[in-house]
Amino acid sequence: MRKSNFFILIISLLVSCNETNRPGFEMNSDNPTKSSLIEDKVNTLLAQMTLEEKIGQMNQYNGFWDVTGPAPKDGNASKKYEHLRKGYVGSMLNVRGVKDVMAVQKIAVEETRLGIPLIIGFDVIHGYKTLSPIPLAESASWDLEAIKKSSEMAAKEAAAAGINWTFAPMVDISRDARWGRVMEGAGEDPFLGCRIAEARVTGFQGNDLSSYNTIAACAKHFAGYGFAEGGRDYNTVDIGTSTLNNIIFPPFKAATDAGVRTFMNSFNELNGIPATGNAYLQRDILKEQWKFDGFIVSDWGSMLEMIAHGHAKDLKQAAELSVIAGSDMDMESYGYVEELANLVREGKVDKILIDDAAKRILRVKYELGLFDDPYKYCNVEREKEVTGSKEIHEASLDMAKKSIVLLKNENNILPLKKEGQKIALIGALASDKTSPLGSWRIGADDNTAVSVLEGMQHYKGNSLTYSKGADVSIGKTEFAFEVKINSSDKSDFGKAISAASNADVVVMVLGEHGFQSGEGRSRTELGLPGVQQELLEAIFKVNKNIVLVLNNGRPLTINWADENIPAIVEAWQLGTQSGNAIAQVLYGDYNPSGKLPMTFPRHVGQVPIYYNYKNTGRPVLPDEDIVFWSHYIDESNSPLYVFGHGLSYTSFKYANLKVNTLDGEVNVTVDLTNTGKVKGKEVVQLYIHDLYASVTRPVKELKGFQLIELDPNETKSIEFKLTHKELGFFSNNGDFVVEPGDFKVFVGGSSKTVLEKEFELK
Ligand code: BGC
Repeated sequence: MRKSNFFILIISLLVSCNETNRPGFEMNSDNPTKSSLIEDKVNTLLAQMTLEEKIGQMNQYNGFWDVTGPAPKDGNASKKYEHLRKGYVGSMLNVRGVKDVMAVQKIAVEETRLGIPLIIGFDVIHGYKTLSPIPLAESASWDLEAIKKSSEMAAKEAAAAGINWTFAPMVDISRDARWGRVMEGAGEDPFLGCRIAEARVTGFQGNDLSSYNTIAACAKHFAGYGFAEGGRDYNTVDIGTSTLNNIIFPPFKAATDAGVRTFMNSFNELNGIPATGNAYLQRDILKEQWKFDGFIVSDWGSMLEMIAHGHAKDLKQAAELSVIAGSDMDMESYGYVEELANLVREGKVDKILIDDAAKRILRVKYELGLFDDPYKYCNVEREKEVTGSKEIHEASLDMAKKSIVLLKNENNILPLKKEGQKIALIGALASDKTSPLGSWRIGADDNTAVSVLEGMQHYKGNSLTYSKGADVSIGKTEFAFEVKINSSDKSDFGKAISAASNADVVVMVLGEHGFQSGEGRSRTELGLPGVQQELLEAIFKVNKNIVLVLNNGRPLTINWADENIPAIVEAWQLGTQSGNAIAQVLYGDYNPSGKLPMTFPRHVGQVPIYYNYKNTGRPVLPDEDIVFWSHYIDESNSPLYVFGHGLSYTSFKYANLKVNTLDGEVNVTVDLTNTGKVKGKEVVQLYIHDLYASVTRPVKELKGFQLIELDPNETKSIEFKLTHKELGFFSNNGDFVVEPGDFKVFVGGSSKTVLEKEFELK
């Protein structure tokens, strides 16, 4: 683009903020009558509340205590209990099951002065008791309907257990597989992240928040948490404005536009200010610019952590900074309940801020229908009927199959034959019934997942021998739980080798245990943990016909496997129905169509690695052997598997890419043909590159995708429309701009696209 003739189209300008007394106080609802009714009720109630009761709404306590008296394991239980009776608690988390929820709700409703119901929060991340695949895996489906359905089912099961608010979806973009929480997000791309944020929010919340089947969602962690330095959880974040505006914010904005009712701030700092005390994030961006009218909960203890950050000298100052910055509810720091009333009396905190926060929380409680019937989520019969129902299990299996990514399949070793094959199944994870549940499985019971062994046992036409081979080593961590910390035991290798020697095909299930990714589980190495790599190589020496099934919560470096093993299936942690889903894919009863939502590096030293990188002033010149360009001297720049990669049991051909520009809109069409022998689905991906811009643009940006199913030999013409929304970007002032000039458009089945064309935006 030439600077002289560019125009700037400012679509979302800073909204002027005359309403400093009522930050972001508009109602968003599409039903103004209902909204204003609720608003009246909130105001009437607020007028009756004491300062302490308003602050009480802003206080959230963790559960796990005996409601008939303090539990000895929780030193604060008696205080929590007393506060609950006084109406100084607005919400509890980690109380679950109709009986327990009912018990605390009864105290709030029947024993406090005003009888304001609690909002009951829980980490329903990918299911409550029946688990779906971890969110990163679900994202690999690129199937927005299925993802929405999965959240809908999670909401239904959780709501039946008395829960009315989930701390999900996590919409943090991350480019760093070392960060254990990549398993909880939608991967590295903001466009895919936006669509998935919308699907999850609408899945959890439905069309009617007051229904007993829906729960309030929470977009977390605002903001930048996925960019922890070195991939080390909770570490400092240091990012530029352009990355913040174009990569990190969009999924949060999409969640807001989809009507998400709550936000959670984050543990990290942004520009030296911890997110919980960050007014730029919470007041300027979220509440004023984006007009978010729900409430923000802090992350666990994050207010208190402002002292360790070196931002607040004590809890009192942390509470003051947090409320001024717009953090409405305190999760387990005890800051608001202990300090806020004094801060108001001393004139350090304006009462208006307390009113605003309390109103936001009450508003969501009204929307949930908790004032109409505080026990509406507490129906024992419904709990029995819904928990683990057929409908929920079926949706979980469907989602699990759709989440699987076929990374490699040489000589069509997959699908397996249904009869007459001798199969050796190897790996501790193959028989594990807990690991597939992942680390966010607080509502689910141990040993409730279908293992790969069980899933394969349904196919009776083959002989199947199972051998563990080696444990999954978790390395040095206090979060080991039941995972064996044993990196050197090879005593089972012999049995596995002999089983493999006698088999036609060896299926090896290797990777990370479910507890090896997730919060607090960062890694410095991304290979197969423990002696699993050695086991793989030892088996390969006796039988090369190996199908490697990966279980993992993050991209792994599996170069050796990619070079040597003929078939590799990415099966993540797939939840309760894991083994059935994997078996159906291995035996060809389900044709995989998943695509990677995160780049797989060749080496951990390449991380952060992502497809939408910038060209730099010294881009890679593949044909020139010179030193001074942006590269490594010991590894290529390219990843092992690109973003968007994933194979099928059939093959697809892309042809006839056409681009038409008219009145600032761009029409793109392409023909897709199924050139293989079986029916299959393909995720058709469209990327753009804005070649010259006032703020440099990535070499490729995903701007559209469609999931298309085709019969063998069938061809479909696929159409995409690119509007200003897709062609613009956020400038460093936070303005959305569309700059005319030269663009490229790319289409294909991964970010390594096959077709491209240039066009000029006038
Ligand atoms: C996590 C949040 C979670 C909260 C409540 C925190 O440690 O960062 O994502 O929702 O705990 O369990």
